[in-house]
Amino acid sequence: MPETFDAPLRALADTLTLEQKVRLLTGADVWSTAAEPAIGLRAMTLSDGPSGVRGPVWDERDPSLNLPSATALAASWDLDLTARYGATSAAEARRKGVHVVLGPTINLHRSPLGGRHFEAFSEDPMLTGALAAEYVLAVQRHGIGATPKHYVANDFETERYTADVALDDRALHELYLAPFEAAVAAGAWLVMSAYNAVHGVTMTENALLTTPLRTHWYFDGVVVSDWTAVRSTVAAACADQDLVMPGPDGPWGANLVAAVRAGAVPEARIDAKVLRLLRLASRVGALDVGGLDGDGTELGDSTTNGLPETARSAPYAERLGRDVAREVAAAGMVLVRNNGELPWPATGPGTIAVIGEAASHPRTQGGGSATVVVTETVSPLDGLRAALPGATVRAHPGVPVQTGLHPLPLTAMTDPVSGKAGLRARFLDDDGVELLSEHRTAAQLVYLGTVPDGAATIELSTGYTPDPESDDLRLGVAGVGPTRLELDAEVAFERVLGGAGTALGAALLTPDVASVPVTSSERVAVVVRQRIPRGDGDAMGLVAITLGTAPARRDRTELIEAAAELARTSDAAVVVVGTSSETESEGFDRETLALPGAQDELVRAVAAANPRTVVVVNSGGPVLLPWRNEVAAVLLAWFGGQELGHALADVLLGDAEPGGRLPTTWPAEQDDVPVLSTTPVDGVLRYDEGIHIGYRAWLRAGRRPAYPFGHGLGYTTWHLADLALEAAADGSVEVGVSVRNTGDRRGKQVVQVYLSRSDSTVERPVRWLAGFATVFADPGHRKPVRITLAPRAFSHWDGEWQIEPGVFTIHVGTSVESLSLSTNVTVSTARWAAHGARE
Ligand code: BGC
Repeated sequence: MPETFDAPLRALADTLTLEQKVRLLTGADVWSTAAEPAIGLRAMTLSDGPSGVRGPVWDERDPSLNLPSATALAASWDLDLTARYGATSAAEARRKGVHVVLGPTINLHRSPLGGRHFEAFSEDPMLTGALAAEYVLAVQRHGIGATPKHYVANDFETERYTADVALDDRALHELYLAPFEAAVAAGAWLVMSAYNAVHGVTMTENALLTTPLRTHWYFDGVVVSDWTAVRSTVAAACADQDLVMPGPDGPWGANLVAAVRAGAVPEARIDAKVLRLLRLASRVGALDVGGLDGDGTELGDSTTNGLPETARSAPYAERLGRDVAREVAAAGMVLVRNNGELPWPATGPGTIAVIGEAASHPRTQGGGSATVVVTETVSPLDGLRAALPGATVRAHPGVPVQTGLHPLPLTAMTDPVSGKAGLRARFLDDDGVELLSEHRTAAQLVYLGTVPDGAATIELSTGYTPDPESDDLRLGVAGVGPTRLELDAEVAFERVLGGAGTALGAALLTPDVASVPVTSSERVAVVVRQRIPRGDGDAMGLVAITLGTAPARRDRTELIEAAAELARTSDAAVVVVGTSSETESEGFDRETLALPGAQDELVRAVAAANPRTVVVVNSGGPVLLPWRNEVAAVLLAWFGGQELGHALADVLLGDAEPGGRLPTTWPAEQDDVPVLSTTPVDGVLRYDEGIHIGYRAWLRAGRRPAYPFGHGLGYTTWHLADLALEAAADGSVEVGVSVRNTGDRRGKQVVQVYLSRSDSTVERPVRWLAGFATVFADPGHRKPVRITLAPRAFSHWDGEWQIEPGVFTIHVGTSVESLSLSTNVTVSTARWAAHGARE
């Protein structure tokens, strides 16, 4: 940024003492930065993200829009839709007084076992970078900061705080850094440094924060740490790490002031960080003009995001947000098999069996920090019932999938203090003195940075009335710490709930569960008391506890037979299968790609009972579908956000096209996956496959997955023709192709361009994605499509970006394996020549 723009900010920073400056470099609490009234600097609120905006509290009293997860958005391959998704996130941020959204997550799907892939876009760096850039632009266009994360090589969860990634320079630049480069080029105001190390140095101290981030990409924004990722004073402060989160405690503060005074950290480093923070503040409207002018103008309330209170609380276009959620969910659904069953006619089949736990309790978002608290989710069952009032829609829960708890519904709880629907949550100190007592309307509670000081115990109490229709239930508690459950003043159990180790956030990510059978349908007075453990999680002030029910274990054969019987007596069956929060979430990688529980047996039995069986897959990443060729249709629905059920009905009934194409390869067998392990050995995870991940690795191994990268069926047919190239003076190549909808209904196609190189002195992927475009066309219509291949698409990394002169082949088609057109282009760094196209 030119000096002149920075001059007023520098002048402000110059008025601060060293203590004042250093104070700004650690968060004031879990979600906000420190204010400095002396220079008109307001606190800034940062919030997860990236699929919706939670806001500074994790609380059902301040709910959020739950957008579909990143894999769903990425599957749309639709940049315009991504821009609307980003704009919707910005609107949510404004509504919640949030200045900075902690997203997008742009690590890569290196192995399908990665636990957090629902939150990242793709296995391909080009697709990831294109989506990231669009997301960043859209969010920031509305004055909200975006935070591409986690820089860099945080593509797994195992030992995530400490693992060291060993990878070669080419893979680092061509794969893992590339999406960050695109996001920074789009003007990102922040980047989040990751927990892991690369080349033996933890990312918050790593030289990659300087080169290429600052020196080559000219990033002028703030590097915010992942939460608790800064572990040192001198090393991190000497690196290009700017902001330590969360606060107010942390390794900088007084230690950093002392280190500067002792000469261990140059004060100029501190000044550079403060300048970047002020630059961010000026971008998001957190720097008061009065402060800038130094005229002492009184500051506004720091919680209003610089907006007058009236603007912030003005009616929010909630409907619009929901419409975007619904549209993205449908646009990301990937139809991978269809024997002619779909779409159904507008009135649907007369009788439909809707089977599976996820049919009523779908996963609409992934677990962990990406979670937002939502008012209402539309399940597949709700969606189908709403869309087909004239049809008979009957449900069966299938086999158990979640081993955790479903939080008690509001209608089943009565707060003993207020008598209102809900429960009473109290925090007590060591002497049992009440520190906080509040009425809550949800039974899954997370206090992150809102636990009262001195709290030793959390207590939940409610009058619980079991649903008389659901037999065989267990009532229980999920959380971490010594826990006691009382029913009508009798102790039902007293146990220490563990969670996976003492790792940060275990209560949130891997809670333990204890439960007892529900023996009557009469209301019972429930009191839960849990000691708040003192552990690493304290750094975040985290308490997470759920009071809920689980189905008692029932005989799976009986359940499967009952489900199959329902299917047999219905015109068509929809089985919704998926992962559970115990098998796919932030905080751990997946152990297997198989569906949890007996879901494969369930699908097979239902398909045997009804040939019109449609399977809907509700997962964030790939799962194995061993029965995929035995069913009528398979639709991948991802974690489709709060409107998932409506979007599903839209797609099944043909009101919307299943618009998705795979952003990541789906294997047939786990053993076939070329790059699988996410487990560090002696603390080091080696990316030995170099530049060959995802479809590149499948192609190199000569193996065929169940469904290749880029694949997806719509409801119409297409013909691609007239491939033509045009070289531009800047070294880019324009690929022209005409796309004709040869079917009888409007549809969407994603035209994909790949490059290959047969005679190369450089090791290369068999082919690689170089560009793409989404096309919508009416039946019989032909659309001209132009896709620009930037010089970067032809480049490889060898200490710098280089182009090897010679002949590249351009392949055009509709998946990495379905490429009907090709032509050659001769590239010299100075001159480009196109040859005739082949069909
Ligand atoms: C996650 C980040 C998230 C942060 C704050 C971390 O554990 O890795 O993605 O933004 O927590 O919730």
